[in-house]
Amino acid sequence: MRNEAKCLNSGSPNLFNDNPFDGYAKQFADKGYCLLKDAISLRFLEFAREQLAELERSGKGRLPDWQIKNKKTQYLIDFPSLENINALFDAVARITSRPRDLMTLSERHYKIYSPNADPNPNAHKDRFQSQYSLGVPLQLGTNSKVVLWPDQSRALNQHPSTAAWRESLPQAELPENVLAGIPPLEIDVRVGDAVIFLGSSIFHERINAAGTIMAYFKLNALRCDPLAEDPLVELRANKGQALLNSLDDHQILDTAAELSPRVLDINIREEHDTQVQRSYSARLAGGGEVGLTQEEVTILNRLDPSLPLVKCFQGPPGAAELAALRRVIEAGVAVLLPEPITIAPGYGDAVREWRQSVEQRSASLPLAAQ
Ligand SMILES: [Fe+2]
Repeated sequence: MRNEAKCLNSGSPNLFNDNPFDGYAKQFADKGYCLLKDAISLRFLEFAREQLAELERSGKGRLPDWQIKNKKTQYLIDFPSLENINALFDAVARITSRPRDLMTLSERHYKIYSPNADPNPNAHKDRFQSQYSLGVPLQLGTNSKVVLWPDQSRALNQHPSTAAWRESLPQAELPENVLAGIPPLEIDVRVGDAVIFLGSSIFHERINAAGTIMAYFKLNALRCDPLAEDPLVELRANKGQALLNSLDDHQILDTAAELSPRVLDINIREEHDTQVQRSYSARLAGGGEVGLTQEEVTILNRLDPSLPLVKCFQGPPGAAELAALRRVIEAGVAVLLPEPITIAPGYGDAVREWRQSVEQRSASLPLAAQ
C-alpha cells in the first residue's frame, strides 16, 4: 500500500453504507448493470475529496499517460486500508455472482473531466481485464450522465486497451457507426449513488462530462492485474515468497500456485538459423520482462489455483521440475498460495484456456512447422 492516505488523517471510512447488496444479483445478471442508490457513505465521499485535493496539490499518483485528448486527468486512488478493498470485492462478487477469490482490481482511478470535455463522445468498451466498472461520482457537472447501450452487441473487447480494440474493428463496426441513431439508456447517478456495469462488453460513455469528478474502480474475476494497481496482489505475492522460503519441496506440493496476475503475456520468439531456436519470456505489469525456459512455460501452463500443486503435475515432479517451479515463483511469474482458492467448478479450466489464448495471441512470431 502507498502511504499518502495515511497523511490525510481521515481514518478508514467504509466505501459503502451498510448495504449487503442482496437483491442486485438478479438485476445485474438480467441487464448487465445496476444503479446502487444511496450506496456510498458520506465519510468515503469526504475522504475521497480530501485525498484527491492532496494528490492534486502534491502531484503524487497522477497518471500522465492517461490524460486523454484533453478529456480528463486521472490520479491513482489510494485505499486507506485493506478492509476497503475487501469490502469492494465482497460487494462486486455478490452483485456479479462471480467467485470472491477471483476478484482482482484492474484500475482504481480518480477521473477529473476537463471543462472542455466533449459533451457527446463516441461510446467505447473498456480493456478486457475491466469486466466490471463501478463508478462513484464525487462531483457532477450540469446534466452529466452515464449512457449505456445494454441491448446492443455485448461482444467482449478482447484487447488490453480501448485504443487497440478500436484499431481492430472494421469501419462499419466502430461504435459511432454501430450505434448511430440508437438512443442510449441514460442513468442518472447522483452523488452518494454508484453505478456498476459490464465495462468490457457493454458500449458506454459519459455525456456532458465537463466539471465531473469520478472515482472509478474496475475489477475482473480473471485474476488479472494489468496496471499493477491491486495492492492485494502485491501482498499475496510477498506472502508467497516468504512461504516459498519456509517450505521444503515436499511441503510445497501441498500448497497451490497461480500464474501471477501481473503477467501480461508470455511471448515465444523464434530465430531461424540452421535450426529453429525458440526463446520464451513473460512481460509483467509495472515493467519488466522475465526470460523463461520451455520447461518453466510448461509448468506455468499447468498451474491451477483451485488444485493442490501436487495435482498440477503429471505424476510426481522431479527435482528439475521443482527447481523450475521455485524459479518462476522467485521471478514473480507465479505466486505460491497457502492453499487452493475457491472458484466455481470448471473455472480453473476457463482460466487456463484464457492464458493459453493470450500466449498464442502474443507470440511475436508464428510457430513455424518443424
Ligand atoms: Fe469506460
